[in-house]
Amino acid sequence: MKQIVKIITKKDFSSFVNSLINDKTYDVVGVVEKGKRYVFDTLSSAKELQLDYDVTILPPKKYFLPQTESLLTFSLEKPFDGKETLDDTPRIIIGVHPYDIIALEQTDRHYLDQQQDNFYKKRRENTIIIGVDIKNVSDQSFAASMETNVTDSGFDLLLTDIGINYAVTIGSEKGTRLLEKYATAENASNSDLKKIITVRNAVAKKYKQKVNIDKKDWSSLLVANYNHAIWEEHSDVCMECSSCTMVCPTCFCYDVKDNVSLNLKEGTRVRTWDGCMLKEFTKVGSGEVFREEVKERYRHRFFRKGNYLPERYGFVACVGCGRCGSACLPDIADPCNLINELGHFNSEENTGKYFIKEETEVLERGIIHVPRSATIKKIIPFNEIDTLFEIELDDKKPLGHKPGQFVEVSIFGYGEAPFGISTPPGNSPVFEIMVRQVGNVTKRLCLLQPGDKVGIRGPLGNGFDVKTFEGKTLLFTSGGTGMVPMRSLINHILDPKQRPKFKDIIILYGAKRPKEITFMNDVDRWKKVSNVQCELTVDRCEPSECWDGCTGLITTLFPKIKADKIDSKNTIAVVIGPPVMYKFVIKCLQTLGVPDNNIYVSLERRMKCGVGKCGHCQMNGVYVCKEGPVFNYGKLKQLPEAFE
Ligand SMILES: Cc1cc2nc3c(=O)[nH]c(=O)nc-3n(C[C@H](O)[C@H](O)[C@H](O)COP(=O)(O)OP(=O)(O)OC[C@H]3O[C@@H](n4cnc5c(N)ncnc54)[C@H](O)[C@@H]3O)c2cc1C
Ligand code: SF4
Ligand code: SF4
Ligand code: FES
Repeated sequence: MKQIVKIITKKDFSSFVNSLINDKTYDVVGVVEKGKRYVFDTLSSAKELQLDYDVTILPPKKYFLPQTESLLTFSLEKPFDGKETLDDTPRIIIGVHPYDIIALEQTDRHYLDQQQDNFYKKRRENTIIIGVDIKNVSDQSFAASMETNVTDSGFDLLLTDIGINYAVTIGSEKGTRLLEKYATAENASNSDLKKIITVRNAVAKKYKQKVNIDKKDWSSLLVANYNHAIWEEHSDVCMECSSCTMVCPTCFCYDVKDNVSLNLKEGTRVRTWDGCMLKEFTKVGSGEVFREEVKERYRHRFFRKGNYLPERYGFVACVGCGRCGSACLPDIADPCNLINELGHFNSEENTGKYFIKEETEVLERGIIHVPRSATIKKIIPFNEIDTLFEIELDDKKPLGHKPGQFVEVSIFGYGEAPFGISTPPGNSPVFEIMVRQVGNVTKRLCLLQPGDKVGIRGPLGNGFDVKTFEGKTLLFTSGGTGMVPMRSLINHILDPKQRPKFKDIIILYGAKRPKEITFMNDVDRWKKVSNVQCELTVDRCEPSECWDGCTGLITTLFPKIKADKIDSKNTIAVVIGPPVMYKFVIKCLQTLGVPDNNIYVSLERRMKCGVGKCGHCQMNGVYVCKEGPVFNYGKLKQLPEAFE
């Protein structure tokens, strides 16, 4: 579509900016000098604007996803009082370069998909972007190679310096209105339009950095080199500072935590930038860190940009601004250098896939990160670390979950944590979770009393598609807290209305010690149901503990399966347990002849948002919280990070 272009003198543009500032309707932000560098900051006068800058220290993403932002405020004096804090400041950002505009469009794809992030959305709606064509190229930038040095979308107005005038390309109705209200601009002539092209072509020649590999080929180049020594060689000098992710306009992972005010009466749930280069990013309750080595985190960052997001959204998530290259002291973060270096190697053949496309309906109700009020009805301690909670949603609406889904449970002042739902689906607002005390939220939860309030988000994740299990023998293997979602599944299947749809059922359950066996009442009940074989084991047993059952790892239970029960091709196996368990159990299942496509697993990863936004649970290109936690092993086994 042909865009309308207006012409405004530079003097009139300054008056336009001053009028915007004086109007006080908007927070008017622009590029200003900071020492020898440039930053986006609030303007007090048009004189401060530096539209011939090369690059800013931080991209304008800080106005849409601030370094720290309040998601909700809460009172600690009232039973449940959380209010979302949507920032609706109208803002105008002046001087955004095309690569940063394109980075924002990429962020939109992630934050404004089917589960929209209201906080981000509100800021996007309330912000007017006045872009500017690049005049001076940063030494580190390779935007021309990424085709992000110019753009014809994503702005409301876009300036091009064509001498004594600015050419102003109109990008939206909002841009037209702003220009009409605060300035007088004439239509551009053909010679003005030619000047825009001349200026852009001249600037495109100024780039010192060039990527030699076309961006559409980054993905296959990375895949071919997944196991290359380069990841280790480069990351050897990595300081794990995560500066590369912080300055990047296309890095948008975050953390969420509760800050309590000094008077201990109220607090704020805040979202802060987080980075996949940090070790804690993937650490879970069992102590497991899913990308333990620096080289794995270093590689993840490049794969996220060049393979995972391209597979998901169709774009390379690097716009070539060069900020990471400038920010990295050991000089190993720049994708231009890395991709060029990889391009020199005769890549080994590696056909691995690092993304599996799963169509999942995102089921979160209400606003992202804002929980619903619920009341603890019953608390049943199983042992000193595991406690069962019966919870009722205060709106009395059914939770509406499938077996295998989870909820995020909030305690204001302490935070939020994900827990599997242990009750079968139904029409009740009451459901159960089992909590193992490992840290802040879980320990606090276990100090609550019946009648106390918690926040609930969910149900989240995909859950099991139980219909596909019909007519099959079912073999359930669970370890530790894996029994929580497994109990939901088993009790659903053993429901008299459901039971006739399935053949024999074998349940294998392992706990570390006898006292860590949970849901013993259910286990006793299951043992009495005909055509159900239920076997238990514990890893170890102290002399003081009473246990006359099997001792040994969960795999020791497999020889106990009655041979006549297993028609391997017609058996569906479900495995849920600690990460270390999967490899061994899957080997046993394969020995029994169960096809990989008949095996389902539910995975635990570090989770914060639960809806595919914050990046914590990412496993190669897959968001476990959204595309999982339930996966078909046949599909999942190709993802290197799933079981390594
Ligand atoms: C899908 C899913 C289902 C789960 N189901 C259950 C369950 O049924 N019962 C149960 O007891 N636990 C379950 N967990 C684990 C539980 O979420 C963590 O133990 C809990 O988040 C720890 O929070 P905390 O504040 O007590 O610990 P923290 O004080 O925050 O930290 C203690 C340890 O837990 C890790 N951790 C912190 N937050 C998370 C998180 N959001 N996800 C994973 N690990 C985290 C930290 O890295 C640290 O190693 C589940 C986790 C997931 C992802
Ligand atoms: S690659 Fe560079 S910037 Fe990134 S974490 Fe390592 S040292 Fe820091
Ligand atoms: S990876 Fe580096 S060059 Fe690419 S967009 Fe991010 S900061 Fe800019
Ligand atoms: S992306 Fe946030 S928990 Fe999965």
